[in-house]
Amino acid sequence: MKLTATPGGSLNGEAAIPGDKSCSHRALIFGAMADGETRISGLLEADDVLATIRAIEAFGIAVERDGDDWIVRGGSWTSPEEPVDCGNSGTTVRLLMGAVAGMPGVRASFTGDASLSARPMKRVITPLSRMGAAIEDSEHLPITIAGARLGGIEHRNVPASAQVKSAILLAGLGTLAPVSVVEPFPSRDHSEIMLAQFGCPVSVDDTPEGWIISLGEKRSLAGRAIAIGADPSSAAFPLVAAAITAGSDIMARGMLVNPLRTGLYETLEAMGAEIELSNERIKSGEIVADVRVHHAPLAPCHVHAERIPAMIDEVPALAVACAFADGESVIEGLSELRVKESDRLGAVVAGLAACGVTAIADGSTLRIFGRGKVRGGADVATQGDHRMAMAFLTLGLAAEQPVEVDEAGMIGTSFPSFVEVMKSIGADIE
Ligand code: S3P
Repeated sequence: MKLTATPGGSLNGEAAIPGDKSCSHRALIFGAMADGETRISGLLEADDVLATIRAIEAFGIAVERDGDDWIVRGGSWTSPEEPVDCGNSGTTVRLLMGAVAGMPGVRASFTGDASLSARPMKRVITPLSRMGAAIEDSEHLPITIAGARLGGIEHRNVPASAQVKSAILLAGLGTLAPVSVVEPFPSRDHSEIMLAQFGCPVSVDDTPEGWIISLGEKRSLAGRAIAIGADPSSAAFPLVAAAITAGSDIMARGMLVNPLRTGLYETLEAMGAEIELSNERIKSGEIVADVRVHHAPLAPCHVHAERIPAMIDEVPALAVACAFADGESVIEGLSELRVKESDRLGAVVAGLAACGVTAIADGSTLRIFGRGKVRGGADVATQGDHRMAMAFLTLGLAAEQPVEVDEAGMIGTSFPSFVEVMKSIGADIE
């Protein structure tokens, strides 16, 4: 399916952003590992999360929708008869490999679509094998893993990956041996926060080597109610659209504003966008707030590598904002973008070039030479990547000529209501 974004007037009103994808996967998986019932409100109903629901059902766990909530009846897992298809979702497969690793007697094979089958898996397999899990030594899916009684580990999490950290913590629930992850650059900490919600506290020590995240002595989870905040990685598109479109002023309520996810807001603010946070509160251990963005002329940015983990999925959206800034923007530390759902560094450079913007990938640094306005008028290749599709439709809303994307169906991976939400604030996307 192709979609076209046509430039028009300002964007105004409230953007209804769905639940956070990372927290949705975790609520389902932790709920499936817990004793008793977990009720989840605000769950993201998108293809990646549906892949997690199908996967935990394949392990014999009952999941059902109840009005607007989802209920997971946790307990013992059984070995699935068929390979578990994780679709396009890296979080599904990497977290589930960790969970299964620590469950003696459970055995599963994992598969995925072409994109997921090309993504690196050794980063999870190596630490899980060191803990004693029986996994074949393969860089790519399909991979089979047999749960075992594991030993402990102290793993240095470089490059910073919340999926790898979470896989190790989940595997560690099956042992009483010491399990810790050292992070010179912190990655998102939703697993740590949510494990505590499920009754399993995780300690975090700030040391000269970085943060050390350790499981405590209590390693069993108890089912509970979890409320999920709105996803900052999805909100990035309407918020950037407002920042680059004259006269715009939009609000997104109930946004997750965990400081390990707010790198985009901090960067847009430094570029001159007006961003206001209000009504801050705690929801299931996470900070949420209402976020309002007003348009203002944007200056170029210089983002250093340390900030990237807090905005890793928002880089395509930030690149669009940089295209509308007047001058050279520099974003460092992007090597991980090469191994996301597509080679996002290459895809961003190619998409910007097609729209008349000069950009280069210089090693792991992205340089974008903005001129304050963007021509557009291109058919952009999304490389089957949901975030590339949404980023270039966002660009088209403020360009001089419409922008078409070649494959918009993948948007359902993370933000199925994207077009509806963008239209509700005045965007022209057909
Ligand atoms: C995620 C972690 C990040 C992020 C991904 C979701 C998570 O990946 O890009 O979309 O839910 O833990 P890495 O762990 O590869 O950095």
